Amino acid sequence: MAASAKTLTLEKPNVTGDWTIVLPRHRKQRRNFIKSRMAEQGQPWIKFKLLKSWIVFLGFLGSEPKMQMVIYGIGSIESYETPRLQLALAILMKKRLSWIGDMEVFDPILSATETRVLETLGGSVLSVNEQGRRQALKPTLFFMPHCEAELYDNLLQANWRVDMLKRVVLFGNSFETYEQYVSVFKNSTVINLRKHILAVRRFTKEAGIKTVSDDYFRAFHDLSWHFFQLRSRDGAAIW
Ligand SMILES: C[S@@+](CC[C@H](N)C(=O)[O-])C[C@H]1O[C@@H](n2cnc3c(N)ncnc32)[C@H](O)[C@@H]1O
Repeated sequence: MAASAKTLTLEKPNVTGDWTIVLPRHRKQRRNFIKSRMAEQGQPWIKFKLLKSWIVFLGFLGSEPKMQMVIYGIGSIESYETPRLQLALAILMKKRLSWIGDMEVFDPILSATETRVLETLGGSVLSVNEQGRRQALKPTLFFMPHCEAELYDNLLQANWRVDMLKRVVLFGNSFETYEQYVSVFKNSTVINLRKHILAVRRFTKEAGIKTVSDDYFRAFHDLSWHFFQLRSRDGAAIW
């Protein structure tokens, strides 16, 4: 599909939740597009919003010395660059941030070799498919880059309680974009499969990340940090 500079965009997720990336044909247009996205996402107030959400979230660590990281849907690190880059970010975070603890990984497509590599890199690969339904009984960072919408919805459903949602920080597809998509394409099946995503939107603090070069675009486009915070009627945070 030809894409003009104006229409070049990350198309909304399709019915199955997959993403279609429509990049401009020309390198210059692509660079301009990425620059404009960076300018949008690099606003100081967004950085402040993210920092504030992290500070609030880390406050929940309480007596827990570390926050566990659960990685769902990383993809095949043997076959594709995108999952390798995403995994590199997770490992970097674990190395650099002293408060990140165990790293658990699950993707049904992981081979025995990939499992061994992940374990050598410090992860433990789950043998059970949780279908994304891990309950946050302690503060948990869910690292889920470009997963299907249903997996995010399962995660939210399993944690659909104030005390659990507050322990969740989620790195994954932008919920804001999902909401924009369903507001345009009012398809009841699509809405139904994303009902927890849509319902949690008004309690979500979302901060998109910026992609700093073409090389990382495929791995990190349209990903956001999500924090969940319930508010009382007067606007005060409930937790
Ligand atoms: C769209 S791919 C994303 C892969 C990679 N993160 C990327 O950005 O290219 C979604 C991934 O989710 C995985 N997946 C599907 N069901 C899953 C489940 N129940 N738990 C964890 N991962 C799952 C798929 O095998 C696939 O690798």
